[in-house]
Amino acid sequence: MSGGRRRRALGARWRRHRPIRTRLALAASAAVALVAIGVCTAAFFVIRYEMYHQLDLNLTQSATILIQSDRHRPVGNIAGECRYLSAPACSQVVPADPADDPAAPYHLPVTPPVREVASGARAPYFSNFRMEGHPARLAVTPIGGGRALQLALRADSVERGIRQAALLLSAVGGAGVLLAAALGYWVSRTGLAPVARLTATAEHIAATRDPRHRIELPPGPPGREDEVTRLAASFNTMLGELEQSVTAQRRLVADASHELRTPLTALRTNAELLAKSDRLTPAQRDRASGALTRQLREVTGLVNDLIELARDEEPQPLLEEVRVAALAEHTVAAAAAHWPATPFPFHLAPQAATVVLPGVPARLTRLLTNLLDNAAKFSPSGAPVEVELSVRGARLELTVRDHGPGISADDLPYVFDRFYRAEAARALPGSGLGLAMARQIARAHGAELTAEQAPGGGALFRLRFGGGGGGSGGATES
Ligand SMILES: Nc1ncnc2c1ncn2[C@@H]1O[C@H](COP(=O)(O)OP(=O)(O)O)[C@@H](O)[C@H]1O
Ligand SMILES: [Mg+2]
Repeated sequence: MSGGRRRRALGARWRRHRPIRTRLALAASAAVALVAIGVCTAAFFVIRYEMYHQLDLNLTQSATILIQSDRHRPVGNIAGECRYLSAPACSQVVPADPADDPAAPYHLPVTPPVREVASGARAPYFSNFRMEGHPARLAVTPIGGGRALQLALRADSVERGIRQAALLLSAVGGAGVLLAAALGYWVSRTGLAPVARLTATAEHIAATRDPRHRIELPPGPPGREDEVTRLAASFNTMLGELEQSVTAQRRLVADASHELRTPLTALRTNAELLAKSDRLTPAQRDRASGALTRQLREVTGLVNDLIELARDEEPQPLLEEVRVAALAEHTVAAAAAHWPATPFPFHLAPQAATVVLPGVPARLTRLLTNLLDNAAKFSPSGAPVEVELSVRGARLELTVRDHGPGISADDLPYVFDRFYRAEAARALPGSGLGLAMARQIARAHGAELTAEQAPGGGALFRLRFGGGGGGSGGATES
């Protein structure tokens, strides 16, 4: 494995095993520590440069004075006694050609660059060197006539200053690193506290499977929350919806088991009766088996309705472009065949004939069938059930009107409830689920289904598509 790959693999493992809080703390600390160390290092170099620069200025000044006084003196005269501790400065003149060297040995080190400065091949320069084990600074300047002046100054105070600066800056940098660690820890703690709360709640819900929990949101004006608060808020919204759906499902199951109990008991009674058929007269046996068949059909219908109702809570099935007029015409014809005693006049307004809506055809058919079945069921024989499809405002409207007893004002608020059946309707077959299902389908299509008393008697059901015309889900002409 290459070094880079190994490093990456190590990094991945590190990220997997470290909690996000530790990672954030380390990252924040490292960033602050790097800045502290960087600033201290930069300060050190600036201080060192400034100190040497000061010394170099002194050297230049002394050299200028020496050169001016040298004009009146022969070469070599300015090379004096050069002991580090006794003389604060010492100098010597060096010719470009070693053949011109004076007889006496040089005090200061003479290197090839010094000769080059003397000959003019090199610019004047400064350098550090050690004299008798002590730090010193050397300036090399040309003085004309193929000669260079070497001037040395003691640099121990500068060295001491630089050492002190280094020590001080290391201490400051070290304190900065410690402070960075503390800051990083604090930042990660306070910054991730809401995330920790979110995690704890999510884990609690996962463990208890109880969606009633909510994450406490910090108080503050809505619309100005931070990302974590917004995340918590949407988490809460999700929990609310989950809770609602779980509750709805539980209620449906409870309602269903309650409603199934009575017909199932009757079924069992008749079945038990038939089991002892040898003790029954043929007439009794016929009655019992007739009742059994009827009850079986009823329970089957109830269960089918329940399944249909529950299925509607599944994720949205594929939408199709539905031509409502054609669908209505077809469904009305089917109802007319199913209820031969009831005429179903269908009035179709011309503007409504071409309207196409996104929807699920099977569901819309079911909705309309439920309305038509109710109308026919509650109508006296021969009374017409009038169906009308029209466009009102920008909205498609379907009405089903019968001439039966209508719905009393006491029952009107409840007819769309699951299993609700008006007192007068109990004698007729039915489950009380038809209208609940119809409204559920209507809502899934963005339509609203209402019931009212028709003027002149009878019930009137009104289905209005589109929530306000023109928008999505609104009617489109084709
Ligand atoms: N066209 C109607 N005329 C009078 N009452 C109606 C009509 N449609 C529905 N209802 C009332 O609404 C109740 C609920 O209807 P529904 O949900 O279809 O159940 P079901 O038809 O199985 O009784 C009915 O029991 C009845 O009381
Ligand atoms: Mg019904």
